[in-house]
Amino acid sequence: MKIGIIGSGGIGQAFARQVLKAGYEVVISNSRGADSLADVVKQLGGKAKAGSVGEAAAADVIFLAVQWIHLPTIAKQFSNWAGKIVIDPINPVVPPDYKIAALGGRASSEIVQEMLAGAKLVKAFNTYTPQLLGASPEEAGGRRVIFYCGDDAEAKAVVKSIIDKIGFAGVDTGALKEGAYLQQYPGGPLPGLNLIKL
Ligand SMILES: NC(=O)c1ccc[n+]([C@@H]2O[C@H](COP(=O)([O-])OP(=O)(O)OC[C@H]3O[C@@H](n4cnc5c(N)ncnc54)[C@H](OP(=O)(O)O)[C@@H]3O)[C@@H](O)[C@H]2O)c1
Repeated sequence: MKIGIIGSGGIGQAFARQVLKAGYEVVISNSRGADSLADVVKQLGGKAKAGSVGEAAAADVIFLAVQWIHLPTIAKQFSNWAGKIVIDPINPVVPPDYKIAALGGRASSEIVQEMLAGAKLVKAFNTYTPQLLGASPEEAGGRRVIFYCGDDAEAKAVVKSIIDKIGFAGVDTGALKEGAYLQQYPGGPLPGLNLIKL
């Protein structure tokens, strides 16, 4: 399975390291183009390749590791999100002070789902810092928990299989509307907890 990563910052790279270790093929992209990622790809090793955002978006599964404010640009870049499995680790905060974005009372992932019309969205991998996400998922005799939620059963099963394969413990927080509120930072109860499943 090929995983396309859009966004090569802390979260994109931490996720890339974990899936590469488990043998997945990865194409990682950013706003500056593949050439700017030569060193990153060398450090990541494994089956990592730098590509354009379009190449990443063509993969079987897309990991959308960009800041909230950059989402509309990316959403508009492609006309056909329908049927794509997209993992959303986005926290709806706005630089420079990282206060919560105006969401009109909705969970941020509901808005992401609306922007990526027809995508099979799964919110996951948003509750840890890049350091913790990139660390070994084995701790204290158990496995670190990754929460995930979404409305499409097939997409959730695919994301759960990735979570299992890279050594974390997946915990299903339900449908997008309910789960995204639990997982959302700021405001939800789950971000920042380092939970281990024994
Ligand atoms: N950092 C955390 O502690 C943390 C924890 C959990 C979740 N998150 C969430 O995860 C997401 C990524 O966070 P991060 O800390 O990794 O962010 P980051 O370090 O700021 O990296 C963002 C990446 O997005 C890329 N990007 C921006 N606009 C783009 C575009 N139009 N097309 C393609 N790529 C574009 C940037 O590429 P260029 O550099 O080339 O512009 C950069 O590689 C955010 O939504 C954040 O809320 C962060």
